[in-house]
Amino acid sequence: MEDLIKKVAEHIVSAKHLVALTGAGISVESGIPPFRGKGGLWEKFDPMEVGHIQSFMRDPEKVWRLLISEMRNVLKAARPNAAHLGLARLEELGILKTVITQNIDGLHQLAGNRDVIEFHGNFAWLRCLDCSSREETVAVDLAQMPPRCACGGIYRPECVFFGETIPPADLDRSQIASSTCDLMLVMGCSAVVQPAAFMPVIAKQSGALVIEINPEPTPLTGATSTLRVPEKAGKAMREILAEVERIK
Ligand code: APR
Repeated sequence: MEDLIKKVAEHIVSAKHLVALTGAGISVESGIPPFRGKGGLWEKFDPMEVGHIQSFMRDPEKVWRLLISEMRNVLKAARPNAAHLGLARLEELGILKTVITQNIDGLHQLAGNRDVIEFHGNFAWLRCLDCSSREETVAVDLAQMPPRCACGGIYRPECVFFGETIPPADLDRSQIASSTCDLMLVMGCSAVVQPAAFMPVIAKQSGALVIEINPEPTPLTGATSTLRVPEKAGKAMREILAEVERIK
């Protein structure tokens, strides 16, 4: 593993334009459960039942109760872990340009990354279904389910539900970042949800090297990614950053 860490650190230090694609796995060590695999949210709930926009519109209270209040409590307590902090340091060193994240937990921004594309939106803001006014989630009393705007309309989180399209500006920016990078770190992604999972393919097709950090192989492994660090993201990034700081 030591040689692999050294190799990844060398690729990072020599990268001209590093982009990271992150998924739920990067936040597991911050106490936020992933969606798939051991302890995954979709082991408890049917994603099409509680994560689809039609389910939300049919019964917003049920979705608020099941998915969102559970997520809200976990999100409130979560803090960036060594993986988020490592990416923030790589941006500070001028190596990492953009983080494309599928996560809605806001931990990359909390860790200090400034160029973050929230591919699946975020949970930090709510929008009224009637008057479209926006409110910060922390400022809304979620004791009342579903939470309502002053106009009486129901609030929805600004995350992207299944059945919804990725905001075009975010998709464009992600495609541009993926096609202009020379190295992409794919961290904590199961790479089964499109179009996020296509970003590493765009990077590879554009000549970039793709490296995964994930204890498990994914559909990208060996086909799109050349290297995989079979390690938890926090531990891997601690070791990688120590090596980057040593050789940079
Ligand atoms: N460090 C790194 N990777 C980890 C860790 C860890 N500590 N723990 C788990 N993983 C890996 C798992 O092996 C898996 O490949 O993280 C991945 C988590 O997969 P998912 O839960 O499917 O998360 P993600 O890839 O982000 O899901 C994509 O699906 O349900 C939708 O909108 C949701 O954004 C989400 C999208």
